Amino acid sequence: MADVEHTIGLLLGTEDDWPRAYEALLRRLGVVTGPDGRSHRAISERVTIEPFNLRYRPRHELVIDRLAYWYYHPREWLKKIALMDDVYLLNSPFTFQSMEKHAAYCAMMRLGLKVPETVLVPYKNPLDNSRYAYTAARYNQAFDLDATAAQVGYPMFMKPYDGGAWVGVSRIRNPAELHAAYDASGERLMHLQAAVEGYDVFARSLTIGPETMVMRFRPEQPMHSRYEVDHNFLSADVGDEVVTISRLVNAFFRWEFNSCESLVRGTDVHPIDYANACPDVAVTSLHYYFPWAMSALLRWTVFCVVTGRKPRLDTDTSRYFAIGDDPSLSYAEKLAGYRKLADEYFETERYEEFCARHLARVDEIVYEWVTSEEFRSLLRETVRATYPVHEHEKFLGHFGGLIEAWVRDNKRS
Ligand SMILES: Nc1ncnc2c1ncn2[C@@H]1O[C@H](COP(=O)(O)OP(=O)(O)O)[C@@H](O)[C@H]1O
Ligand SMILES: [Mg+2]
Repeated sequence: MADVEHTIGLLLGTEDDWPRAYEALLRRLGVVTGPDGRSHRAISERVTIEPFNLRYRPRHELVIDRLAYWYYHPREWLKKIALMDDVYLLNSPFTFQSMEKHAAYCAMMRLGLKVPETVLVPYKNPLDNSRYAYTAARYNQAFDLDATAAQVGYPMFMKPYDGGAWVGVSRIRNPAELHAAYDASGERLMHLQAAVEGYDVFARSLTIGPETMVMRFRPEQPMHSRYEVDHNFLSADVGDEVVTISRLVNAFFRWEFNSCESLVRGTDVHPIDYANACPDVAVTSLHYYFPWAMSALLRWTVFCVVTGRKPRLDTDTSRYFAIGDDPSLSYAEKLAGYRKLADEYFETERYEEFCARHLARVDEIVYEWVTSEEFRSLLRETVRATYPVHEHEKFLGHFGGLIEAWVRDNKRS
């Protein structure tokens, strides 16, 4: 028996692969001795959706949310348990709802990051609202789409201001394509963004708390081959910049579990997408990197509950802007300043010490699990659920090989 039990809630939609992985690892981790000398056990529980009294006390200390970005009843439940009960959230709907991709672009521009030129254009079609006709007649300014696009320059991307999963994203080469895409945008609010042409590398990073994995991404490939296993595709400086940007975005907005996309051309890092309330962590996408993602999720959530880390709903944007607005600082000095603030927010040093002292077994536990029959059946069942029958053999081989590569690279002595 542990002295203290912590309940971690999983708020899930259709996914089953990583939740099973996380549950298995948490079980295998068992009891952890905390810095307070007491024994702690974290248990996970899948959250169900039902009426709740706003004054009830939840059992959960932490919730990993994968649902609230489209399902509003649990979203409001998250707000209740955050505001009234201090439950720790990965992620908080407060900032994800208000600070979507557009807000992230704005903040990152002010902080001096190399976000491509971006314009927000008004809706193409009238909004379904009885006040629209009057308001539009009185206040909507007629605008010249071609002239607006000329400020951005071709080629460009048209994409939703709050996008995700490439929905409604198009690459635009000329005025004809511009008008066609705008006409098709309907009631969706769109950005026009200058394309980063001829980039050398697409770096996609996944960040969980203070842990970041920067992966080489090939957006032109089908999902199962988009992440390439490559350990040396960025110079040390550029790699560090990508990590800093990812952590900065998360600390700035209080996001705990997020992915960030940067296009690297020469030594310039251009961030283009960094507000993913529910980043893809499927084993069929991450493959080789899946054990890392599960380890990081395990370590960070256990750290939060065992040390009683307090959730923060407030942001401290002024500290970041003080750096961003200071004309005497170079870009590199600003990045160093942001990195410090981000590390402070995530308690990086305390976290690393905690992992070394109290979670030293995690690597071994993950290795044993990845090489177990339990993991093999998880992979088999996920492949069967994801692909048509005639492709099962091929994908089992494909992912099996990538996992074997991970096992080779992480062999325990
Ligand atoms: N400014 C840009 N320059 C080059 N490619 C871009 C740019 N913006 C988007 N893309 C391409 O379009 C894809 C989808 O755009 P993104 O902003 O990531 O939207 P989503 O949030 O839907 O993923 C990117 O992964 C990238 O391949
Ligand atoms: Mg994207």
